[in-house]
Amino acid sequence: MTHHRVSKAGTGFTNDPANSFTPDAPYYFDPDVYRAEIRSIFQRNWTYFCHASQIPDEGDYLTGDIAGQSVYVLRDRDGGIRGFFNVCQHRAHQLLSGTGNVKAVIRCPYHSWTYELDGSLRGAPKCEAVLNFRREDVRLKPVGVDVIGGFVFVNLDPASEPLSKAVPHFGEKLLAMCPEAERLRYVTRQDFAIKANWKVVAENFLENYHSFYSGPAHKQLSDVIDQDSYRWTIEGKVIEFLGKGGTAEMLPYEMKGERRFTGRNDGFQIVFLWPNMAFLILPGASMLLVFLMIPDGPEATVEPLLYFGLGTELDAGTASAVEWFNNILGPEDVEIVESVQRGLHSLGYQRGRLMADPACAEAWSEHFLHHFNSLNIAAIEATP
Ligand code: FES
Ligand SMILES: [Fe+2]
Repeated sequence: MTHHRVSKAGTGFTNDPANSFTPDAPYYFDPDVYRAEIRSIFQRNWTYFCHASQIPDEGDYLTGDIAGQSVYVLRDRDGGIRGFFNVCQHRAHQLLSGTGNVKAVIRCPYHSWTYELDGSLRGAPKCEAVLNFRREDVRLKPVGVDVIGGFVFVNLDPASEPLSKAVPHFGEKLLAMCPEAERLRYVTRQDFAIKANWKVVAENFLENYHSFYSGPAHKQLSDVIDQDSYRWTIEGKVIEFLGKGGTAEMLPYEMKGERRFTGRNDGFQIVFLWPNMAFLILPGASMLLVFLMIPDGPEATVEPLLYFGLGTELDAGTASAVEWFNNILGPEDVEIVESVQRGLHSLGYQRGRLMADPACAEAWSEHFLHHFNSLNIAAIEATP
């Protein structure tokens, strides 16, 4: 079984969540596993990049890193969004940085080669004098781009099937949660640098078992969600959680904002898209939160929390929800996952029993972790 060698999940992680153990500890820190995941998961699947409203005008661009690769997306002349590896085809200098507008052409800062917005080479100084230099042979290397509900996703493999085809129910669920998604505007962000493997962070995000027990902010979280109505669906790469919200008296933030999203659920909702993205709404708050768990080394994760609203400012009630999420709940979870990461190295730990309800029908059940890791391991196995 090659996947046990590559993923190091071990034999305790079996197909049946109800009888499974967790993956073995090295799965969460071994550099070989990390490299395999970057290659098999993050360099071949769709990941979040930005919202289309962040590059509204022709020539607007935004750069970013995906799986260690510098990439940019840009608004083309026809209004569409394209994406490219951010590297000059001459001697590999980076083309763009940060965010901005490229006006007429993209000019490489090193020897001033210029590229059209569509990635073709417009000019290279002295190229007329160079033997057999054919401008039309030079093109920037594209990445796959798909826009769903206004959110821009990138796939480093340009030949990959569009996200909207590969995972059609993702867009359906996102838009059912927030029909206004295309009109959203970026408002603010909070970034956590976490000393834990990205899967430890994702698992903690996906399981509700700890919510009842692990600290004062989590007690508050269990009041944010009306537990009796809490439901979920697992459908391939998408896991959806939804429930009614707690009453205004129970919420740990002020619920005085007038809700302006028209989704079918006005409570708590998460649409998780494998491998590392979650789209989330909180009861009584008019904002959509994009929650990312970005691998930054075998034992480091960057976790941006990106807030989007219907304008560029949040009403006071929504702002107080953001404040609670950023400063109360977020730090409590960071402490948890960093403790877990240290514990995974303990000589006194190898694996633990996965706490799954046999029918996988209970909100506390850890079968979400099992599903998540099954997808991770399958992706590694499927990569030649
Ligand atoms: S590396 Fe870009 S022009 Fe030389
Ligand atoms: Fe948590």
